[in-house]
Amino acid sequence: MLTEKLTAPGVFDVEQIRKDFPILHQTVNGKPLIYLDNAATSQKPLAVINTITDYYERYNSNIHRGAHHLAQLATEAYENARKTIAEHINASTKEVNFVRGTTEAVNLVASTYGRKFVKAGDEIIISALEHHSNIVPWQMLCEEKGAALKVIPINEGGEILFDEYLKLLSPKTKIVSIAYVSNALGTINPVKQVITEAHKVGAVVFIDAAQALPHQKVDVKELDCDFLGFSGHKVFAATGIGILYGREILLDTMPPYMGGGEMIKSVTFEKTTYNELPYKFEAGTPHIEGGIALGAAINYINAIGLDNISAYEHQLLEYGTKKLLEIEGLRIVGTAANKSSVLSFLINGIHPYDLGVLLNQQGIAIRTGHHCCQPLMDRFGIEGTCRASLAFYNTFDEIDQLAKAINKAVTILK
Ligand code: ALA
Repeated sequence: MLTEKLTAPGVFDVEQIRKDFPILHQTVNGKPLIYLDNAATSQKPLAVINTITDYYERYNSNIHRGAHHLAQLATEAYENARKTIAEHINASTKEVNFVRGTTEAVNLVASTYGRKFVKAGDEIIISALEHHSNIVPWQMLCEEKGAALKVIPINEGGEILFDEYLKLLSPKTKIVSIAYVSNALGTINPVKQVITEAHKVGAVVFIDAAQALPHQKVDVKELDCDFLGFSGHKVFAATGIGILYGREILLDTMPPYMGGGEMIKSVTFEKTTYNELPYKFEAGTPHIEGGIALGAAINYINAIGLDNISAYEHQLLEYGTKKLLEIEGLRIVGTAANKSSVLSFLINGIHPYDLGVLLNQQGIAIRTGHHCCQPLMDRFGIEGTCRASLAFYNTFDEIDQLAKAINKAVTILK
């Protein structure tokens, strides 16, 4: 578990941290596992695993429903987690809605806010960097409403063209939805400026923060965003849980997303009145242990310190970029000046999938393919990339091993 040493500014003891992640200590195909697929899903520290086990061993029960002891314990733990998460992103607990993940957060906003406020002839702006989950729900909404989807183009490095964004903005713009950090390239978008400009034309902004939360501090007040979504499993917690942050004043105006238990105040066959925030958007029994464990994950990264995490990962990224560029025929896709710890790359004459398979044989986990960003791959005229995505428990030595393994694979494949 964490020691005080880790919380001291500027000190980062990765070997100590790795002890918190049991899954990292195994061999795959006879080689020590090197897990570099953190943008797909992150690994879980004991603090999270033990929280889930503890819930099932000690107080598994439904929340907000029973008068009994276990129900009270579960409700208290769930609502405490909401408080931890709210404090972490600088929101109020009414503004923090538990959802299944970022995908559900986008769909919720498109289906409620979007359906209510977007009309024929309106426009929604996204960027060329978006994950399918931040494209398709808006396309569906535009189709239903007769609205138009506009796309901010990017340069060769994978950075949005801000001047082009300014040209797209107009009084017709109702929603701007953009990733904080690109999952496929690692580009960190200038979301604060994007939000400021959108507000000037009266649009609301949704921030897909799935790839930002694990790596940097995210403050919804400082950003001044209207909506923000993230997924628990990317931030060292469980799958199937995530957060939709929404400004209270906007959430209040929105109709519910799903109907059912919990989201109601009273039900008769003639009429239903809805619960107050945040429960209005939380129909049905939720992923209780997932929510509680998400709180534990947030406490865990805060104990290490997000400044420490960001600084260390930045060093890893710089080192990894340098090591990979030493490999003949390798080019990095996504060279933004402001980048998170993602290394997307291609090697002349080698299919990403083939490289992925050979790296797996050497115990190294990367993702290959389009990374749920087909339009982005089309922009670069490629089918996909190899992607090594780093977390704070990765090491410089693992990057050396990756470079060595790529060189070995290349000699086999060429
Ligand atoms: N969005 C996840 C990724 O980038 C699944 O791999």
